[in-house]
Amino acid sequence: NQLDTLYRQVIMDHYKNPRNRGELDGDSLTVNMNNPTCGDRIQLQMKVEDGKISDAKFTGEGCSISLSSASMMTQAVKGLPVEDALKLSEIFSDIMLGKDADYGDFDLGDIEALQGVAKFPARIKCATLAWKAMEKGIKEDGQV
Ligand code: FES
Ligand code: FES
Repeated sequence: NQLDTLYRQVIMDHYKNPRNRGELDGDSLTVNMNNPTCGDRIQLQMKVEDGKISDAKFTGEGCSISLSSASMMTQAVKGLPVEDALKLSEIFSDIMLGKDADYGDFDLGDIEALQGVAKFPARIKCATLAWKAMEKGIKEDGQV
């Protein structure tokens, strides 16, 4: 249907024109994470200033779902307080689990385009890879 087509276009756009692909210079949190089911890996770097994620960039190899999700994730969390970034990650994983997610005040933006992935259990880890990396970085850094 039309919505699926639109979502597919959003995913392909992030895959072909990734936002925030690259590396950050200077002091930044760096997390490497791989998807154990396929071996694909991403590196995520973040700068956290005054409790907010002021910048985020990623590099890595992976499928269209994992890389478009990394692009969308970095776009979504840039500028967010770390608590909100973690909350958004929770919402995203609820969507992937097919649960009714409580969106609160969050505008999901492009992330919404990935909701169809919930129907393909084998791909869920692809979609959550970058989010797990973000969570790990923030938690290990003692930001929450
Ligand atoms: Fe199988 Fe990503 S791990 S599609
Ligand atoms: Fe490896 Fe999707 S198939 S991350």
